[in-house]
Amino acid sequence: MEIKNKARMVLDKDFKVSEIDNRIYGSFIEHLGRAVYGGIYDPGHPLSDSLGFREDVIDLVKELDVPIVRYPGGNMVSAYNWEDGVGPIEDRPRRLELAWRTIETNEVGTNEFMSWAKKANTDVMMAVNLGTRGIDAARNLLEYCNHPGGTYWSDLRKKHGYAEPHNIKTWCLGNEMDGPWQIGHKTPEEYGRIAQETAKAMRRIDPSIELVACGSSNSSMPLFPQWEATTLDYTYDEVDYISLHQYYGNYNNDPANYLAKSLDMDNFIKTVISTCDYLKAKKRSKKTINLSFDEWNVWYHSRQVDSERDPWSIAPPQLEDHYNFEDALLVGTMLISLLKHSDRVKIACQAQLVNVIAPIMTETGGAIWKQSIYYPYLHVSKYGRGNALKPIISSPVYDSKDFTDVPYLESIAVHNPENDELTIFAVNRHLTETLYLECDVRNFEEYQIIEHIVLENEDLKATNTPELERVKPHSNGNAYLDGGTVVTNLASKSWNVIRLAKQQ
Ligand code: AHR
Repeated sequence: MEIKNKARMVLDKDFKVSEIDNRIYGSFIEHLGRAVYGGIYDPGHPLSDSLGFREDVIDLVKELDVPIVRYPGGNMVSAYNWEDGVGPIEDRPRRLELAWRTIETNEVGTNEFMSWAKKANTDVMMAVNLGTRGIDAARNLLEYCNHPGGTYWSDLRKKHGYAEPHNIKTWCLGNEMDGPWQIGHKTPEEYGRIAQETAKAMRRIDPSIELVACGSSNSSMPLFPQWEATTLDYTYDEVDYISLHQYYGNYNNDPANYLAKSLDMDNFIKTVISTCDYLKAKKRSKKTINLSFDEWNVWYHSRQVDSERDPWSIAPPQLEDHYNFEDALLVGTMLISLLKHSDRVKIACQAQLVNVIAPIMTETGGAIWKQSIYYPYLHVSKYGRGNALKPIISSPVYDSKDFTDVPYLESIAVHNPENDELTIFAVNRHLTETLYLECDVRNFEEYQIIEHIVLENEDLKATNTPELERVKPHSNGNAYLDGGTVVTNLASKSWNVIRLAKQQ
């Protein structure tokens, strides 16, 4: 029988893209909707600890093995007074939160979040407010968090019950400052200057920190990529990363086109790399600016209902996208895109972690459940540690509304020399047909297949609920080794994790 859809792939230990920085499996918690209140923090819940943090949420965050979490925003940070969130909780002010038009109680602030992060076994990527505030608030927050003691702000932290500095290493210089929706929105020149001066002050306090300058809010912004060029012109010597943000949606219910959107992500990343390297050349610099893709995900299901919500309530259910199976497939291709560029993408945060456009959902006071997108994230975080390998792929292609020559096969492999495992992540974008794949694993001679995980579903619109998990992976994939070749039939519209390990 003739095989209609056939792809070929070659993997070699020497085709190394990069050692992966584990921070590309980061996430994000913003004071937004029920991410904090009713999400990670739910003091009335039977499973909450003495600080009010839900242990069942922490368990899932640990299962995902999230290395870093961006906090406290997002749009929210651009009008946030960090001082409101420290000290005795009963003295903290309630404020109008202008980004999402809610009431912020400030019950959770910097110190509580640092305690949560410690319990969840993750680092924090802290954002400073460069919207309504600037150098002074940023330097004070850094002194409060990282200075050991003997100064006003560090002693205040001690007085608040935190004797040891938090030692936060990674800091964002504001959020999406190119966006007209941002409180304190700036021109590229205004942002470049304030980011440069804030970075200088922060580095004087703690030269060991790493700084992320704001790139464009997405690749369709009118100033992209001139925004990046101007920002880096001012900040090149002071910062380590430039940020990228991107969300996709299947607005026209065109799955073939939707599943191709990771190609747009690839192009976005390539353009930002080129812009960084243009500035490197312009400045005759030896330093390379890397990329922090610190907001990425699917976000569109909840936009209509959110636009109709009345303002000024506490922790309303905002941005609660209920993800379906096709969203999980796109998330899989987006993770592959990040890994393909792991030589320059060193940090990435799936936005966000709990309830707000999130893999983990909770009912306030009640159940916890996993969305469809939980699984590709889990698999890549769990098995995608080590060296990303560039596969040489030949795959049949298709054209969609916005893309041409979209390969049905999207794939990347990761070799972990520490545990001698090789993992192939692969998506078959074909909506109706199996893709026969032969993958030459030439110099992995003593490796055997140990598992072939598959996420598949007949219904692209299938979702999970607290009661029923309709989208969940199984380990009954059909991959086998034929000499030095992995052979498999990838099910139509499927996410695959083929794991090989060296036999002892
Ligand atoms: O993640 C939700 C929002 O998306 C963030 O607050 C903002 O930075 C972005 O526009």
